[in-house]
Amino acid sequence: SMVRHYKFNVVLKNTTRMCSTKPIVTVNGRYPGPTLVAREDDTILVKVVNHVKYNVSIHWHGIRQIRTGWADGPAYITQCPIQPGQSYVYNFTVTGQRGTLWWHAHILWLRATVHGAIVILPKRDVPYPFPKPHKEEVVILGEWWKSDVEAVINEALKSGLAPNVSDAHTINGHPGPVTGCPSNGYTLPVKSGKTYMLRIINAALNEELFFKIAGHQLTVVEVDATYVKPFKTDTIVIAPGQTTNVLVTTHRGGGKYMVAASPFMDAPVTVDNVTATAFLHYSGSLTSSATTLTSTPPKNATSVATKFISALRSLNSKQYPANVPLKIDHSLLFTVGLGINPCPSCVNGSRVVASINNVTFVMPKISLLQAHFFNISGVFTSDFPGNPPVPFNFTSTQVTNFATKQGTKLYRLAYNDTVQLVLQDTGMITPENHPLHLHGFNFFEVGRGLGNFNPKTDPKKFNLVDPVERNTVGVPSGGWTAIRFRADNPGVWFMHCHLEVHTTWGLKMAFVVDNGKGPNESLLPPPSDFPKC
Ligand code: C2O
Repeated sequence: SMVRHYKFNVVLKNTTRMCSTKPIVTVNGRYPGPTLVAREDDTILVKVVNHVKYNVSIHWHGIRQIRTGWADGPAYITQCPIQPGQSYVYNFTVTGQRGTLWWHAHILWLRATVHGAIVILPKRDVPYPFPKPHKEEVVILGEWWKSDVEAVINEALKSGLAPNVSDAHTINGHPGPVTGCPSNGYTLPVKSGKTYMLRIINAALNEELFFKIAGHQLTVVEVDATYVKPFKTDTIVIAPGQTTNVLVTTHRGGGKYMVAASPFMDAPVTVDNVTATAFLHYSGSLTSSATTLTSTPPKNATSVATKFISALRSLNSKQYPANVPLKIDHSLLFTVGLGINPCPSCVNGSRVVASINNVTFVMPKISLLQAHFFNISGVFTSDFPGNPPVPFNFTSTQVTNFATKQGTKLYRLAYNDTVQLVLQDTGMITPENHPLHLHGFNFFEVGRGLGNFNPKTDPKKFNLVDPVERNTVGVPSGGWTAIRFRADNPGVWFMHCHLEVHTTWGLKMAFVVDNGKGPNESLLPPPSDFPKC
């Protein structure tokens, strides 16, 4: 294994999209940002230097950060932000993971433009569990606002209303020609008769996406840096935070083939409906070649999404076993959803909030991890409820009980405890999707369903053999999902909806995992350049 050094200068950069130019926050002037490349077991050191007027922090989404929570990145959860003019070296080792992950800013809404790929190659001489692709390509899906993204959310917080939706989706930073502005979009040059691996990342702030390539099937081989049993599909569905590796075989003789990304949102809310487009471009047919278009499923195509999600299975091979916890120490039910709290200064006298088990999370003033490590009292309490305040019932809860409680509550776990967590969408205002992301762990998605979770009958149907292992899971609109994980990583670990608007509204909490007794079972001390609040 080796040590890999990166330098991230956080700088403003004037960027033109959709016929208009604005300064955006970037890493090294690039949007999307630079790709980190490492092998399993390598150590990565990223020196982040903040040259902008905002506080900054960077999260390495999906990296387990075993015993190195200080490098995880969410502002006020594991660190104080890096202030303007300051720097911080994120230092972590990639243990037991290989595949595609990504990094993004984890403060304000900066991640709209501050994000990039993390490519983790298997250890030297360890092959992929599928034929080696001819070439690999990172494909980052995103969203673009013509106006300043921080202004968009600040305005919404002031009014208490939902923020404006983005003006376009993007593929590797470009909406493509559909927006009426002269833009070619992103082009992936390919040769005929080869297999390519696309490392697809959903870096969009607020939308789950469909992704499709005209005239080509996609073979899914990995999600969230864990191998899956390969399967073929026309369309993938990918939630913000998730990553999906697919193989594409270029069986066509020539021509251009549309690559398309558009929203999947089976909730009746306003979304940016613009399809982002790019092209696979066969070489040897540069100018005169025909173009094959495609269209993605409509935004309410729940059946397409369900079919895709139910096809995901851990590879569960001898080399890559699915170690699903079978004996459970904590059986938790978290309701996730939106609510309405009073707000005298807001437009309607109320504001949209979000909660888990009716708790709207309040961000602390110093990081939770520091408070935990240095035993600073008064920052958080360890009384996060393991169940909703009143037994949840989808239909009867729907009409009452919109208001939420506020608090900085954590759920405490002993080292190596096992957790089963059922995430239930409340749909109190309207059923909506919630891609829930857990920092510090991978978990297994052992079951999912529509309506109310039934604790008697549903667990009998759980897949405890080869469930998909990931770090971000879509709680279906008006339904539930059940996950299991082992708390083998001491520290404070954020869990939140990866729709940025829901996180902002309070759909977040954290687990605190105490040290174990063994020699390698405790959180390491913070590095000397650790940012101060
Ligand atoms: Cu990718 Cu806490 O986020």
